[in-house]
Amino acid sequence: MRSHYCGELSVEHVGDSVELCGWVHRRRDHGGVIFLDLRDRSGLVQIVIDPDTPEAFAEADRCRSEFVVRVQGRVRERYAGTENPAMATGRIEILGKVLQVIARAETPPFPLNDEFAAVGEEVRLHYRYLDLRRPDMLQRFRFRSQVTSRIRSYLDRHGFMDVETPVLTRATPEGARDYLVPSRTQQGSFFALPQSPQLFKQLLMVAGFDRYYQIAKCFRDEDLRADRQPEFTQIDIETSFLSDEQIMDLAEGMVRELFSELMQIDFPAFPRMSYDEAMRRFASDKPDLRIPLELVDIADLVQNVEFKVFSGPARDARGRVVALRVPGGAERLTRSQIDEYTQYVGIFGAKGLAYIKVNDLAAGVAGLQSPIVKHMEGVVMQVLERVGAQSGDLVFFGADKAKVVNDAIGALRIRLGHDLALLTATWAPLWVVDFPMFEESADGQWTSCHHPFTLPRGDVEAMMANPGAAKSVAYDMVLNGTEVGGGSLRIYEMEMQKAVFKALGIGDEEAREKFGFLLDALSFGAPPHGGLAFGLDRLIMLMTGASSIRDVIAFPKTKTAECLMTQAPAPVDNKQLRELGIRLREKME
Ligand code: AMO
Ligand code: AMP
Repeated sequence: MRSHYCGELSVEHVGDSVELCGWVHRRRDHGGVIFLDLRDRSGLVQIVIDPDTPEAFAEADRCRSEFVVRVQGRVRERYAGTENPAMATGRIEILGKVLQVIARAETPPFPLNDEFAAVGEEVRLHYRYLDLRRPDMLQRFRFRSQVTSRIRSYLDRHGFMDVETPVLTRATPEGARDYLVPSRTQQGSFFALPQSPQLFKQLLMVAGFDRYYQIAKCFRDEDLRADRQPEFTQIDIETSFLSDEQIMDLAEGMVRELFSELMQIDFPAFPRMSYDEAMRRFASDKPDLRIPLELVDIADLVQNVEFKVFSGPARDARGRVVALRVPGGAERLTRSQIDEYTQYVGIFGAKGLAYIKVNDLAAGVAGLQSPIVKHMEGVVMQVLERVGAQSGDLVFFGADKAKVVNDAIGALRIRLGHDLALLTATWAPLWVVDFPMFEESADGQWTSCHHPFTLPRGDVEAMMANPGAAKSVAYDMVLNGTEVGGGSLRIYEMEMQKAVFKALGIGDEEAREKFGFLLDALSFGAPPHGGLAFGLDRLIMLMTGASSIRDVIAFPKTKTAECLMTQAPAPVDNKQLRELGIRLREKME
């Protein structure tokens, strides 16, 4: 049916007879001659049909955008002056002799031949198969396929085995809500779709497989954002007998190879930064190092000032008081912008956003403009010295519970970086290491920072004596402020696993009921093991510069976790429910 792809043709083919198949991208009638831009996966080529071939001409006359056609013709060089340098095949065209309409098409709900047409995302998702015809979308999926192919090649070369793990399984705690699937054969019981293959990959290590990987679908029923989907893909990796450093090196090698081979970008070794340092300097466990702004702690300086907004949190063990210097900010930020930022930090719970404009440092307090200087007599110059302020700078302040300050000033830092175009690099990868083992939830209960199978640094006694201070052997790979991957060494001794369950408030009985198979496995000779998982969609989103994770997933869900094309989720009929032993409750109003 086809001899060539459209986009492959060039002056080398001039004189050749070709047969092409594809979609009519655009049709132009130039009084007596009809031009069709024919599109397939590889690109576009121009077909010319003239009245000397009346049958073909009549067919061409009937063609409309998005008709599927087959063309037989001869490649010829375009006449001087009619070349199209914007088109890869712009030096040639096909003189069509035979044209066959294979399938007609309705007028598409949005134009596919105008890359600048503003099209709502809802329409795009409803007609996703048309949206995917657009060349920029196709390009992203071609790239995604190249990435997975390179990943497989890298992992194969490093001795990894691709093993599939179940999708109908038990809950794996990764911190999100589970998607449940009712069992017909055991009514009242449910499978959970995996939030990750975590436990299975650990069991494969107990099985002695040594190096495992899988490009695995994961399911998490959580609040969705631009970089989160309920169903997403992980590059899931586990190894035995390697140190955390060795695992990070292997994973980093993979990412560096991807960037080098697919984007011609060669990264130096990724910096490694402790969680504590990342929180201190950037108020985030996934710092965007492209932005050259840093937080400076000043609690010790403001403990005794009369301004309660500062002295209160400064004396509170759970409080934090920070300054954020914006070089040149006194000139670049207007009063109304500062007001806007004050509203912005409010989203994160901050009760205000104090600032000092440093108009003239040499003039001392008289050279400052600020709503708070009068409350900070005595220490204000020391504060400015600590943050390294210069004349012309603006310094923001945050004071509250540490979590509020981190969320608010961390977000402000990112926002300022973008608003003031301060980014110093296109790419800033790093590892964040030494995460805390536990975090305290609002009700005072310890929860896992990663998941309950993460190995703590140090021994059981030290961890149990002070869970809040315990660190884990966990690491996250961060790229431009996005967590693209994360993992850890795992617990491989039953006693340690039991102790961690205990610290998490999971009693013996519950641990046995939920994770008995893991505890059993640990009693049959488990090797030291560890690994990590990359969010493939997030990685592709960053590499392609897409603004949403939905643009790199062929059939994504909306923010309310629906598929607009298939209308899933959908009601099921009563017969199916009866078979499952399920009766629906009255709809809640
Ligand atoms: P974690 O929960 O950190 O670790 O997930 C690993 C990576 O998966 C990506 N990711 C997501 N991507 C899109 N949508 C989501 N809803 C979503 N949630 C997570 C992130 C993240 O870095 N089992 C462990 C890994 C391990 O310890 O080996 C795990 O799942 O990029
Ligand atoms: P006030 O004394 O309440 O008028 O506040 C003086 C300045 O402190 C204003 O600029 C407020 O925006 C700011 N402010 C109030 N609460 C906080 C806070 N928790 N952190 C930082 N600045 C604050």
